[in-house]
Amino acid sequence: MTRPFYVTTPIYYVNGAPHIGHAYTSVAADVLARFHRLAGDDVFFLTGTDEHGQKVEQAAQAAGVEPKAFADRVSDDFRSMADAMAISYDDFIRTTEPRHIKGAQALWQKVAENDAIYLGAYEGWYALRDECFYGEDELIDGPDGQKVAPTGAPVEWVKEPSYFFRLSAFQDRLLAHYEANPDFLGPHGMKREIVSFVKQGLRDLSISRTSFNWGIPVPGDAAHVMYVWFDALANYLSALDYPDTSAPRARFWPASQHLVGKDIARFHAIYWPAFLMAAGIELPKKIFANGWWTVEGQKMSKSLGNVVDPRDLVQEFGLDTVRFFLLREVPFGGDSDLSRKSLIMRNNIELANDLGNLAQRTLSLVARNCGGILPERRTLTEEDTHLLNHVAVLPELMASQMDRCALTDALEDVWKIIRACNAYIDHQAPWALKKTDPERMSDVLRVLVDALRGIATMLQPYMPQSMDRMLTQLGVAEEERTFAALETPLPGGRQLPAPQGIFPRYVEAADPA
Ligand code: ME8
Ligand code: MG
Repeated sequence: MTRPFYVTTPIYYVNGAPHIGHAYTSVAADVLARFHRLAGDDVFFLTGTDEHGQKVEQAAQAAGVEPKAFADRVSDDFRSMADAMAISYDDFIRTTEPRHIKGAQALWQKVAENDAIYLGAYEGWYALRDECFYGEDELIDGPDGQKVAPTGAPVEWVKEPSYFFRLSAFQDRLLAHYEANPDFLGPHGMKREIVSFVKQGLRDLSISRTSFNWGIPVPGDAAHVMYVWFDALANYLSALDYPDTSAPRARFWPASQHLVGKDIARFHAIYWPAFLMAAGIELPKKIFANGWWTVEGQKMSKSLGNVVDPRDLVQEFGLDTVRFFLLREVPFGGDSDLSRKSLIMRNNIELANDLGNLAQRTLSLVARNCGGILPERRTLTEEDTHLLNHVAVLPELMASQMDRCALTDALEDVWKIIRACNAYIDHQAPWALKKTDPERMSDVLRVLVDALRGIATMLQPYMPQSMDRMLTQLGVAEEERTFAALETPLPGGRQLPAPQGIFPRYVEAADPA
């Protein structure tokens, strides 16, 4: 029986172009999806675009285009970014699609049926940039002395008729759920903030607007459109054909992991579970928030002109170097800085040197000294066994890291073994054995090929293209690349292709000065 594994990215607003921050969460979710596929699970990986709301409406107006035409264009760009980053999504949902509108309205109706929605009037602060209502007590002093949202976003006073969601009624149930399910929210810092926010008391939430039209009509009251967050969160269900619970995709609910940025933790960790509780739907198993990227120490912004398109980085450094860097630089969950120098250093040291050289040294010795034929596996020394045992535990070790979203720790687990392999090759010095002990030389090379096969297999989720090449060079057939396949050693005697470097060193062009 394969286990269902459902992982999601946020659906991105189409008010602006995709950048490295969006790519980050998508790459992280992609690693989880690819990992679980290779582990034999039944995976559904969802991404998409969030296309309604005032923010998108205004961006379209500024571009002089109808909102739908504008959304079509930017949504396509997000999809092309996902493709350029090799995001292996199973579906790409757009909130303007009929299937989503149907799902969001069905969810609304369910919540309303259960008496968790009432009509009232909203009067209070709204930050368009965050598409978020804030309480007076949450506002802080902005640079010009005016009040701004805690995120720094400008706020405006909104007064209009509105439907409300009885969020206040869910405070205790939410706290009980956080308490009873210690892995529901991560990382710890995010969980602490959410718990303390909820403990301070929850106000009912305005979930409809009447002052603009670009949204999903509220069932039974077309004067209102849904608050964009009610609409957007419903995507995780509408993509599974909700409310049709007999649809084949319905088996993927509850979601295994919602991956989000820390900026939208509140919506996912408080509003979403409360909506689901109100609808009588099971809660997702885990919500994990990634940290924030700055670029060369600065916040990314259009006005600073430092917004990084991930496709430009891929063009310059190659896809897998960028994917690797994003997940390697800082423990997943923490904030990181994109620095060109650091990216180049990681590429040159960890990819080109540690891993690339190890493979190149091993495979060129097999080519030169064994006629390119994979040696048989024979008796192993204690050192050989020691090394291979470390490789053998990787699938289990990394699986538990994946469960915790410890994507960087999992990489570090692999790098420890890569370093052990480098120590092993230096110590065994197979190049010196050709004349003195050719049998031992073959054995050592075989151990290294086996270790590299394990390493490359386990790194596929992070670096799909280059690990594909490495596995081909190691003589591993397509169907031998799952984690389970690692338990069956490759038969000796295979002819390996001529080795080729996989990770070129990057040399920064000399300063023209
Ligand atoms: O919030 N560092 O969409 P959005 C790290 N539509 N991650 C970043 C980042 C950065 N500098 N910038 C963006 C929305 N992200 C809603 C979501 S979900 C039902 C609706 C990533 O286009 C991060 O994952 O503003 C963040 O949460 C997301 O992009 C916000 O994308
Ligand atoms: Mg945003």
